[in-house]
Amino acid sequence: MRAASIARLQTDRDALVRCEDNLSFMRPLASESVQLIVTSPPYNIGKSYESRSPLNEYVAAQAQVISECVRLLTPGGSLCWQVGNHVDRGEIFPLDMVLYPIFKEHGLRLRNRIIWHFEHGLHCTKRLSGRYETILWFTKGDEYDFDLDSIRVPAKYPGKKHFKGPKAGQLSGNPLGKNPGDVWIFPNVKSNHVEKTVHPCQFPVELVERLVLSLTKPGDIVFDPYMGVGSSVIAALKHDRQGYGCDVVPEYVDIAWDRIQQLRAGTLKTRPMNKPVYDPSLPYGGHK
Ligand SMILES: C[S@@+](CC[C@H](N)C(=O)[O-])C[C@H]1O[C@@H](n2cnc3c(N)ncnc32)[C@H](O)[C@@H]1O
Repeated sequence: MRAASIARLQTDRDALVRCEDNLSFMRPLASESVQLIVTSPPYNIGKSYESRSPLNEYVAAQAQVISECVRLLTPGGSLCWQVGNHVDRGEIFPLDMVLYPIFKEHGLRLRNRIIWHFEHGLHCTKRLSGRYETILWFTKGDEYDFDLDSIRVPAKYPGKKHFKGPKAGQLSGNPLGKNPGDVWIFPNVKSNHVEKTVHPCQFPVELVERLVLSLTKPGDIVFDPYMGVGSSVIAALKHDRQGYGCDVVPEYVDIAWDRIQQLRAGTLKTRPMNKPVYDPSLPYGGHK
């Protein structure tokens, strides 16, 4: 969606959010100034905030935005593009496959294709219901920052020890926890999620937090060119990074700014990282 730019700047020391088309937001920003770009673009499936266009036009528009994003990225910086499927008359077009060649044309290196699995969504009748989307994590160049320790998760068998060999008796796993792997299970933001706003498809903040913590350092700039209600900006600010974002819908930008103020005031509710997914077979769903 390209819209006339609406000057509605909302900014403070670490946050810059604006109601503006992403290309015009990005053009004045300095090259190689952003450490992490994380976003979920429209999927061209006719959501309230997008107009449907032929797939080739959609891809051409994405190519322009991606090109500007690559210009903004610092050497060693990361770009995370979170997408699902474009659907046309029952046929699905996985957008990560469709867009991958554009990222490669810019020389980006794919480090992970992360599967984000969730349990709620449309119930399909003529194909299997879609219960995952993907995050393509690219870096600009061969050298890049990745702080695994900041995102380790509890090991399944934390006390497990080597039972033979020279390390017999020593812990076999990392005492800080294990690598979270490339399949991430986070509830999607549906009506009973604490982060739910009027936006039809928000990021869960915990998903972005994992990227912010592992791919940036305090003070770095994190930018979301399709910001929605500001989930990426919130994740950045929670961890003392700078958060930039833009969106063409004034209502979403106002909500993003309000959420930022709630975060500052300590009243914003976000689902905690590493909270287990509700499991009805466990007492209290596994939440106590
Ligand atoms: C999938 S949603 C992103 C939601 C976001 N991740 C969140 O947590 O709220 C895509 C967003 O892109 C916005 N958008 C569409 N075209 C845009 C453009 N040209 N520039 C900036 N934002 C745009 C839409 O208004 C929509 O809010």
